Order: sequence, then C-alpha cells, then structure tokens
Amino acid sequence: SRKIIIDTDPGQDDAVAILLALASPEEIEVLGIVAVAGNVGLAQNAINARKVVELSGRTDIPVYAGCARPMRRTLVTAEHVHGDTGLNGPDLPDPQVPLQAQHGVDYIIDTLMNAEPKTVTLCTLGPLTNIAMALIKQPEIADRIQEIVMMGGAYFEVGNITPAAEFNIYVDPEAANVVMRCGGPITIQPLDVTHMIQSTPARLDAIKALGNRSGQAVYDMLTFSEGFDLKKYGWTGAPLHDPTVIAYLLQPELFEGRHCNVEIETASELTVGMTVVDYWHVTERPRNATYMRSGDADGFYKLLTERLARLP
Ligand code: BDR
Ligand code: CA
Repeated sequence: SRKIIIDTDPGQDDAVAILLALASPEEIEVLGIVAVAGNVGLAQNAINARKVVELSGRTDIPVYAGCARPMRRTLVTAEHVHGDTGLNGPDLPDPQVPLQAQHGVDYIIDTLMNAEPKTVTLCTLGPLTNIAMALIKQPEIADRIQEIVMMGGAYFEVGNITPAAEFNIYVDPEAANVVMRCGGPITIQPLDVTHMIQSTPARLDAIKALGNRSGQAVYDMLTFSEGFDLKKYGWTGAPLHDPTVIAYLLQPELFEGRHCNVEIETASELTVGMTVVDYWHVTERPRNATYMRSGDADGFYKLLTERLARLP
C-alpha cells in the first residue's frame, strides 16, 4: 500500500478526505496528519484533525501541528464557508488523542529523510505553507518525495476566493510557488475537477443511509458546508474538493488531465494566487505538474460511499 502524509486544514471536505484515506488501508497507509493554518487557525485545525481521527476509530494515527501563518502574508480564513470551528455540522466530542510534540514541518522532513527515496506521497488539502517550509529547511527532500497530490488552483473554472484564485493557493501563494518549482512529481486537483464532483441531495442521502456514525457525520458536515456554495452557485449540489486527492490515489482513472506547466502568480494585486496553466503547451516552460481538468462524479461517489461504509 502507498504511504502518505496528509497536510490539511480540516475543514469538512478535508475531514471527508481523511476518512476516505483511513477507510482504505489496503491501498493507503496514512503515516501521519499535519495541520496547517487555513480554513481556520492552526490550533483549531489541529483539534479538528484529531476529532476526525477519533471519529474513524484510528486513534493510532499521529497528528502534528505545522505553521501558524503563511510565509509572507496575513492569514486569510474561511469561516464564512466552514463555520466558526472550521468543522461545523456534526457534534463531535473534544479529542482525547494528544497532539504530537514535534513540529509538523520537522515531521515531514524526518519522515522523507528516513524512508526509502520515492516511497512517501504528500497529500495537501490546504495552503502549502508546511510543504514549502520543509523544502526550504531541507531541500534534499525534493528528490525523495514520491508524489505531491494537491487540491488547489483553478483555471478553466476560475477562482473561488477571488475571481482569479482558488483558496488554498491564494492563502499562501509564495509557498505554492516554492512547491510548484521543487522539481518533484506534482498532481493537481483544481476547482475545474471539484466543481464537477457535486454532492447532490441523492448522493448525500446515500451516505446518511449507511447508518454508521461516520456516514452520519459526513452527511452533517457536508450539509453544513454546502449551505454557502449552494447559495453562491445556485446548483443542485455543492462542489466537493479535498476528497478528490485521495480518490485519485485509489482510482486515478476517475480523472483526466494533462502534464503541463503550472505557475503561480505572486506579484499582481488583482490576480495574486492565480494558477496559470499552460494546458495547450503554448510556451516552452517546463512541464512541472499533471493538471486535472475533469472527473467522473458518479464513479467518485460510488467509491466514497462504498469506503465510508467500512468505517465505524
Ligand atoms: C479548498 O479551500 C478550502 O476551504 C477547502 O477545504 C478546500 O481545500 C477549496 O478551495
Ligand atoms: Ca482544505
């Protein structure tokens, strides 16, 4: 099975991604979870990560806290989507599992340096601060990463936090820039994909009907976080973002994209955080990422529902 570290700012959709990974032990071994500042502040995200681990019954998964703010900018959060706790919806108990003492950035570095090269994948579900800081502190990790699979960016579908930028990239564009240029293999699940993977009432009802506590919690989480997007877009379902990262590891054939150049805008006031995707290869710039453009929603929800059924 594939070894992964999940770097995250949970976040209802982050939580569903973590649950999908923990429900798939045959294919995925979650080595650890690292919290980053994003949807809400670092301390709350670290609490939320531990709540999700306990919900899944996998209290053996260590949870670390990484960086509390972006590399250069003031933290922008998203309580307007996720609620004041970042994980509004279900009533999850305060976590009992302790937060690990080691800093999340050092955990990422140590894990990559101590594992065989190219055997650990980084799954990023939030701003890229921790990964960029790890690359800056120990550049040798770049050659040792098996793959970085990130939820972030938007191109054909444009932005969600500004007209040009997707939230995870916008919060720390300097970090995203460091990561995009690191030289390791990168796969991107942008809004172009996640806006196709809509959580319609029928899909959420099927998850609730599983009858387990995880299914109920996912239903409660996504029903809460959908509220904002349903009003905003006027669709019958809301986009579901972060679980596409884990679904790609489980069933890559659900997604289609292209290996091409992706650059991050860090200078312009109007378009800061934009992912500029050379999808049609109109430049000679290096092809540094696989940029997904579409996803199979029915196949995705079939996988998600079937896997959530395996949890408590
Ligand atoms: C991303 O932003 C966050 O609010 C979500 O958890 C997701 O990672 C979508 O733009
Ligand atoms: Ca997230």
